[in-house]
Amino acid sequence: MTKICCIGAGYVGGPTMAIIALKCPEIQVAVVDISAPRINAWNSEQLPIYEPGLDNVVKQCRGKNLFFSNDVEKHVCEADIVFVSVNTPTKTQGLGAGKAADLTYWESAARMIADVSKSSKIVVEKSTVPVKTAEAIERILTHNSKGISFQILSNPEFLAEGTAIEDLLKPDRVLIGGRETPEGNKAVKALKDVYAHWVPEDRILCANLWSAELSKLAANAFLAQRISSVNAMSALCEATGADVTEVSHAVGKDTRIGPKFLNASVGFGGSCFQKDILNLVYICECNGLPEVAHYWKQVIIMNDYQKNRFVNRVVSSMFNTVANKKIAILGFAFKKDTGDTRETPAIDVCNGLLGDKAQLSIYDPQVSESQIQKDLSMQKFDWDHPAHLQPSGPTDLKQVSVVRDAYAATKDAHAVCILTEWDEFKSLDYQKIYDNMQKPAFIFDGRNVIDVEKSRKMGFVVYSIGKQLDDFLKDMPALLSRRQFTVIFRLRTQVRG
Ligand code: UDX
Ligand code: UDX
Ligand code: ADP
Repeated sequence: MTKICCIGAGYVGGPTMAIIALKCPEIQVAVVDISAPRINAWNSEQLPIYEPGLDNVVKQCRGKNLFFSNDVEKHVCEADIVFVSVNTPTKTQGLGAGKAADLTYWESAARMIADVSKSSKIVVEKSTVPVKTAEAIERILTHNSKGISFQILSNPEFLAEGTAIEDLLKPDRVLIGGRETPEGNKAVKALKDVYAHWVPEDRILCANLWSAELSKLAANAFLAQRISSVNAMSALCEATGADVTEVSHAVGKDTRIGPKFLNASVGFGGSCFQKDILNLVYICECNGLPEVAHYWKQVIIMNDYQKNRFVNRVVSSMFNTVANKKIAILGFAFKKDTGDTRETPAIDVCNGLLGDKAQLSIYDPQVSESQIQKDLSMQKFDWDHPAHLQPSGPTDLKQVSVVRDAYAATKDAHAVCILTEWDEFKSLDYQKIYDNMQKPAFIFDGRNVIDVEKSRKMGFVVYSIGKQLDDFLKDMPALLSRRQFTVIFRLRTQVRG
C-alpha cells in the first residue's frame, strides 16, 4: 500500500488530499499540521474551512484511508510521498520585505523531513513557491539525509476556493515538474500514477522543475491581469457612459480571449494573486529585469486603484462625508462560496470608510464576527503569519458591528456596499431594504450583483462598477477630484517601494 502524507492541513492540503483519498482507495493518506485546533476541526463535524461539497468527501473517506493528525513526524516517516502544503507568506522584514516569499515554514518542514526519514521519499512542492525553491529544498534534504535518497517534484495546485472540489475532480490540467534524470522520471511517473486514477492522461502535463514552479506564478499573474484589465476598463466606462458588462461580453466572444475572468469588481483578493505577483516582481528584480517587474507591478497598482476609487465614490456621492453614517457592508469574504478573507478587498474598503469615520454594519454568510474584527485591526501581511507573530492591534472596533442577516445590516443605513457576489444578495427584497433605509438611499454595488434599472425605479441612488452613472451622481466628479487623494486609505505602495 502506498502511503501519502501532506504537511499543512489548509485550503490546499485538506481538499486535495480528500480527493486523492476518495479516488485512490488503496492509498493511505495522512494530512498533518502543527496546529492542534486545525486538526481537531478536520476530525470534527465542523470542518475548519467552508468549501461546497468538501464535507461529503471527507465524511466518505475519514477513518478509512484519510486521516488528520498532529503527529507530523510519524506520518512523514512512514510515507512514500510527502506533499508540502505549508503557508508561504510575504516577508515582512529583511531582504525583499513586502515582496519576497517567506520560506521559513517550508524550510522547517524540509529539515524535519530530513531528520525523521528512514527510507527514500518523493517530496512534492504543493504550495506556490518562488522559482528555484526546489533546488534549495533539495540541498537541505540531501545535506541532512544520512544517505537516504529524496526526489523533489513541483506539483502546483490550480484549484480555486469555492469550487475546489469541482476543480480537483475535473482539473484543466495537472502539472508535474521533476529532475530530468532516470530517478527524477521515475518519481514523476509515481505521482502521475496517483492522478491517473481519475484525471485523463492528456491532462497530466510533465515539465522540468523550474517550468512547473514558474507556470503557477505565471497562471495567477495572467488571471489577475485580466481582472485588472477589465477593472481599468470599468473606470473608462463610467467616465464615458459605456457599460462594462457589454464591453466584457463583446471582448470575451473573441475565442482568442475567451469569456472567463472578465467580471469587473471592486478588486481581486484571495491568498494567491497579490502574493504571487509580488513574488514574480521580486524574482524579476533579482534577475536584473526591471521592465518586466514594472509591467507586473502595474496589475497590483490597478487593483489598489480600483479599491481606492470605490471608497472615493462612496464618500463623494454621500455629500463628501460618511462620518457617523451607518453603512451596510454586504459580503466580506474575498469571493462567494468561501469564508476566506485573506486579502479580501472588503478589508481595504472598510478601512477606507472607517478612516472617514463611518459606522459599519457588516453581514457575510460565512465569515465570523471575530474574523472580521481581527481582519480590520490587523497590519498588512499579518494574515499569513502565526498568531504569536501578530502585533496586537485594536480589537472590538467601536465603529464596526457584525450582524447575522442583510436586513439587520441595512436597517436605518444611509448606504449599502455590496463587496462579495454571494448568490443570496441577488434575491434580497430590495424594496423592503429601501423602505427601511435613510433617504436618499444609496447602493454601491462592487460586484454588479443587483438589477440597476429596477433598483433605480425603487428610488435608490445606484452606483455599480463600470455602469452608467446615476443622474444623481453625475454632478459628483467635481467633488471626487477635490477629495481624490484625501480619503484615508491604507495604500500598500509604501512597503512595495
Ligand atoms: C489584429 C487583431 O487580431 C484583429 O482582430 C484586429 O481586427 C486587427 O488587429 P492583425 O494585426 O492583422 O489583427 O494580426 P494579429 O494576428 O492580431 O497579429 C498582430 C501582431 O501580433 C503580429 O505582429 C503577430 O506576429 C503578433 N503576435 C500574435 C505575437 O507576437 N504573438 C502571438 O501569440 C500572436
Ligand atoms: C486563484 C486561482 O484562480 C487558482 O487557480 C489558484 O490555484 C489560486 O488562486 P482563488 O484565489 O481561490 O484562486 O479564486 P479566484 O476565483 O481566482 O478569484 C480571485 C479573486 O478575483 C476573487 O477576489 C474574485 O472575486 C476576483 N475575480 C475573479 C474578479 O474580480 N473578477 C473575475 O472575473 C474573476
Ligand atoms: P494554503 O491556502 O496554501 O493551504 P493555509 O494557511 O490554509 O495555506 O495552510 C497552511 C497550513 O500549514 C497551516 O494550517 C499551518 O499550520 C501549516 N503548517 C505550517 N508550517 C508547518 C509545519 N512545519 N509542519 C506542519 N504544518 C505546518
